[in-house]
Amino acid sequence: MGTTSGSLCKLVALLYFISSRSIQSNGESEDEQGTEPKGCDLFKGSWVFDDSYPLYYDALSCPFIDPGLNCQKNGRPDNIYLKYRWNPISCELPRFDGRNFLQKLRGQKIMFVGDSLSNNQWQSLACMLHFAVPDSNYTLLGRGPLLTLSFPVYGVSIMFLKNGFLVDLVVEKVGRVLKLDSLSRTQHWKGVDILIFDTYHWWIHTGRLQTWDYFQVGDQLFKDMDRMEAYKIALTTWSQWVDSNVDPDKTKVFFQGISAIHYHGNEWNGPDVQDCRGQTKPMEGGDFPGQHYPGEAVVKDVLGNMTKPVYLLDITLLTQLRKDGHPSNYANGGVDCSHWCLPGVPDTWNELLYAALLEN
Ligand SMILES: *[C@@H]1O[C@H](CO)[C@@H](O)[C@H](O)[C@H]1NC(C)=O
Ligand SMILES: *[C@@H]1O[C@H](CO)[C@@H](O)[C@H](O)[C@H]1NC(C)=O
Repeated sequence: MGTTSGSLCKLVALLYFISSRSIQSNGESEDEQGTEPKGCDLFKGSWVFDDSYPLYYDALSCPFIDPGLNCQKNGRPDNIYLKYRWNPISCELPRFDGRNFLQKLRGQKIMFVGDSLSNNQWQSLACMLHFAVPDSNYTLLGRGPLLTLSFPVYGVSIMFLKNGFLVDLVVEKVGRVLKLDSLSRTQHWKGVDILIFDTYHWWIHTGRLQTWDYFQVGDQLFKDMDRMEAYKIALTTWSQWVDSNVDPDKTKVFFQGISAIHYHGNEWNGPDVQDCRGQTKPMEGGDFPGQHYPGEAVVKDVLGNMTKPVYLLDITLLTQLRKDGHPSNYANGGVDCSHWCLPGVPDTWNELLYAALLEN
């Protein structure tokens, strides 16, 4: 960040924006509420070419990147996709400062809970922090579904807890049962200072990719149901846990919004048969021609009814614009147009997380 009065102004505007939002997103558009400085929405904007990027770490030296996400190592020939900065319409995203992040969050636990996109963001943050303090020792510990990276000098732990649906998936006599109103594996969520949840893409899987045989609500089993209805019941179950267990003075809660996938070119005005393969540049401008994900409205509806503040990291638009950011055929076999290369787009999610946390 520069020291000119211009950028200072922008920072002040940003901080005002964040504090007036008080780490809360209730799903109304900011304009409708009329409480925000005009146009200062971190999640509306466009991608601009910035040759100084990638800023935060080097793909070949970060030890935390899954082989399938390390696109440069996997031989991806182009690198322009690394050189874009998210540019909100009328505020500036502060640069991520890993050392400052660790100092500010001294003694705290940060936990990502969710699916592989949550893991994608965890890996990005792990790289960003490690790169900021390369001489600081760290420990990495994996225990069942929980992965913990600690920086002992700062007392900071960054954790990933794998939990694709948030609610319980249990194997019983009848088969695999997804219990929409049951949440029993929450012991790891307690005592965490910053919780960042996500879940979405597993809910729309069918056929071979579907990982359950029945939905259950109360005592009733359903072979199938409207997926958005199921998603809504599950998110409501999660929201009730947050509302009754989280003390906002101690714990900040985030929800990572729906991350875009790019398997059908017609969503970005390309031929339908086209997926993310061969895409080397983001969409220009700040509008995505394709449809909304039905889950976006569900997330906003559920968050809007909560009594505890949850900050929505609303990454849908900014990911929709990045058909170039996926591993595509530089994954580990197959074509991956849903996860993200690292370095890459999730680094921006962490810039946004950092901006939100700068509030206090
Ligand atoms: C890191 O750990 C090593 C081995 O335990 C130790 O020798 C070194 O002093 C530590 N470095 C820092 C910066 O604490
Ligand atoms: C949220 O509250 C509104 C108004 O009471 C209600 O109509 C809606 O169904 C609620 N949404 C959820 C997800 O519970």
